[in-house]
Amino acid sequence: MEAIKAPRGTRDVLGDESWKWAYVLKVCGEVARDFGYSEVLLPIFEHTELFSRGIGDATDVVEKEMYTFIDRGDRSITLRPELTASMVRSYLEHDMNRGPQPVKLWSSGPMFRYERPQKGRYRQFQQVDFEILGAANPLADLETIDTSMELYRRLGLTNLQVLINSVGCPKCRPIYREALKNFIADRLGEFCETCQSRFDRNPLRVLDCKKQGCRDLTESAPAMVDSLCDECRGHFDAVTSGLSRIGANDARVDNRLVRGLDYYTKTAYEILAGELGSQNAVCGGGRYDNLAEAIGGPHVPGVGFASGIERIVITMEGQGAHMGAAPAIDIYAVTASPGACTEVAALVHEIRAAGMSADMDYMNRAMRVQMKHASSTGARFVCIIGEDEIAAGTVGIKDMASGEQESSPRSGVVARLAEWKEVSK
Ligand code: HAM
Repeated sequence: MEAIKAPRGTRDVLGDESWKWAYVLKVCGEVARDFGYSEVLLPIFEHTELFSRGIGDATDVVEKEMYTFIDRGDRSITLRPELTASMVRSYLEHDMNRGPQPVKLWSSGPMFRYERPQKGRYRQFQQVDFEILGAANPLADLETIDTSMELYRRLGLTNLQVLINSVGCPKCRPIYREALKNFIADRLGEFCETCQSRFDRNPLRVLDCKKQGCRDLTESAPAMVDSLCDECRGHFDAVTSGLSRIGANDARVDNRLVRGLDYYTKTAYEILAGELGSQNAVCGGGRYDNLAEAIGGPHVPGVGFASGIERIVITMEGQGAHMGAAPAIDIYAVTASPGACTEVAALVHEIRAAGMSADMDYMNRAMRVQMKHASSTGARFVCIIGEDEIAAGTVGIKDMASGEQESSPRSGVVARLAEWKEVSK
């Protein structure tokens, strides 16, 4: 029988990488705390309608990428492809709109999209997501961009490119949409098949087609920012003029930036990292003032962003950013003669109770093999107990970094190890 493998587009994050994720998430939590976001833990599946109404029926995510199934109660359920719709659903469901505004929330966890897997693009991936709900002011847009940049700054990422655009609102976007369609219509036959199929349903997406031929054809297309209504124009100017205040001096207005989710209004932004190759967005975000209404709630302005943890880790690795050290055991206790294993287990228990990490051999292996295992765990110290040590009431201690050895009375060994650990920090 063939061994079962993980499904295409998913991956096991093993011990040599999972600690990096823990580090990134720890920093996310610190940034959230410092910026005043409170964490919400949301369901991994939701009613399909939340996404079809929230994200939009004509998007690739809803049309082609959702993991949707009928559950045993005959409900259509979807594994969440993103967090924003769930965040807004939760905000409304718990009447957060009736309390003080704005409400700043963050969350993280796995998302699911049936995409073509490649470097930095998976079918199950993890996002960290920050949202500000209830604030229409451009200051809130800047606050979310600032949050993301501070997160990347603390993670040690450099050379990131912030791209920003406005996708207008239901008042000005239809006018732009028509202008763009007129522009495309003349040479529609020369565009790629995907662009041709998007022409009627979602013509703005033609602008972010990655194919060079299509890009050449839209080189001189009208720009959304030139068609904005007064309100959207004022909002965009306020956001772009505030960028230098938050250190995003080299942010660039990108007329092609339209984003793949239909809920966006006004501000849309992405942050790119060269290390990622073709899937180069480490962050995507923007404003979505009509999302709450689209899912059956009152009008609630909102703005936020999400960032992919896999892409953050790839970028950090590529840039050699500091991630702390892989977790290592403080102490490995070696059994020097088979009869000493109970004493070794008792010592390990005491060491852990004193707040240090410790491990031992459970397989009666030769001392040489245990020493090898000890160094593969990265243990800082090795304790050795055999019949001689038991008879003398001592424990041998080896400092794995310096190679120094000493013999310590059994009764004081835990305190001695704690002292060594403190000094060697
Ligand atoms: P998004 O651009 O679809 O936006 O995704 C945000 C980020 O998630 C991307 O920039 C990327 O880092 C990561 N990501 C997306 N798809 C994949 C994938 N298949 N594999 C690996 N990483 C991926 C959203 O999801 C919006 N909800 C963001 C937002 C929040 N807008 C407002 N608030």
